[in-house]
Amino acid sequence: MLPMPDRPTITDALRARRLLGDHLPPTPMWSYPSLDATAGATVLVKHENVQPTGAFKVRGGLTLLAGMDRDERARGIVGYSTGNHAQSLAYAASRFGAPCLIVMPERPNPAKASTVRALGAELIEAGADLGEAATHAARLAEERGMRLVSAADEPGLIAGVATAYLEIFDQEPGLDALVVPVGGGSGAAAACLVASALAPRCEVIAVQSAASPAAHDSWRAGGTPLTRPNRTRVEGLATGSGFALTQRIMRTGLADFLLVDDDAIAEAQWTLMRDAHTLAEGAGAASLAALLTHRERFAGRRVAVVCSGANASEREILACREGRQQEQSQQSQQSQSQSQSQSPLSSLP
Ligand SMILES: Cc1ncc(COP(=O)(O)O)c(C=O)c1O
Repeated sequence: MLPMPDRPTITDALRARRLLGDHLPPTPMWSYPSLDATAGATVLVKHENVQPTGAFKVRGGLTLLAGMDRDERARGIVGYSTGNHAQSLAYAASRFGAPCLIVMPERPNPAKASTVRALGAELIEAGADLGEAATHAARLAEERGMRLVSAADEPGLIAGVATAYLEIFDQEPGLDALVVPVGGGSGAAAACLVASALAPRCEVIAVQSAASPAAHDSWRAGGTPLTRPNRTRVEGLATGSGFALTQRIMRTGLADFLLVDDDAIAEAQWTLMRDAHTLAEGAGAASLAALLTHRERFAGRRVAVVCSGANASEREILACREGRQQEQSQQSQQSQSQSQSQSPLSSLP
């Protein structure tokens, strides 16, 4: 068994912020009156979708590469990912001149795959899911003498990602809750790290797809990483096992861990487009889906949702629109049949 990496600290997060200052400007956090009305809460959207790779993960990749020594960088890095961690590593490797090899599960999101290649990384498609891709990546890293970068259990990644939460509490110190989407848990662990130091009264709430509940079930079991079916269609949330380091941080840091279904996530993607003029991929809309699904928990509160990524495939965007059209036509059929049955004329013979 591999030794457990050290837990990152708030000092690591502050160092990462200084370091990232040369690479990434802070991202905005906005509220939108129509979104507040839809959710019945004051909703602040943290726009990680505007990062150069379209997702928050780039903060982690740049921090990790900056912390490697010259020899280690020259040997290069290997990552396994459904897409955004891959883009983050490829982006950071290109900035620091390091070779980068990415293993993605077969049939990846074409937009994410082509960006990884365009950033100069070698891309191999292998394995039916992230677990199989990880095994493949570990073997290649060993064969080529490159550093294997875990999708979540990397203190450098967590410290880098934590800079998003330093920004959030600077931008809005009076939050009641912060809702973070979880796959491996680097984002939620980072949120716990920062909130416990800077905003202990703000609840950090994680959300995962009910179709891939490994992190949720691991957390409910006290932080022991468990393996679960991995059937979500939401790429960033599609992990089948809990990760040890992120679970250890989330175990004490999270106030709650919610599940939402994939259709609720698609509905939240649509709501972000309509009310916040924002294109989110599924994982980027999962936090809002938690607000819309568990309304009573958030009613009237001041809540930040992390729009963690924008990298929806064309198919995903079209499916979201079609789902919405079907729902609207069902609603109009229902209201037509209701108005017919309520019409005084309908009771006439
Ligand atoms: C857009 C997006 N949001 C959220 C997540 C989940 O992040 P984590 O794996 O750090 O829990 C991912 C993971 O890839 C992602 O790509």
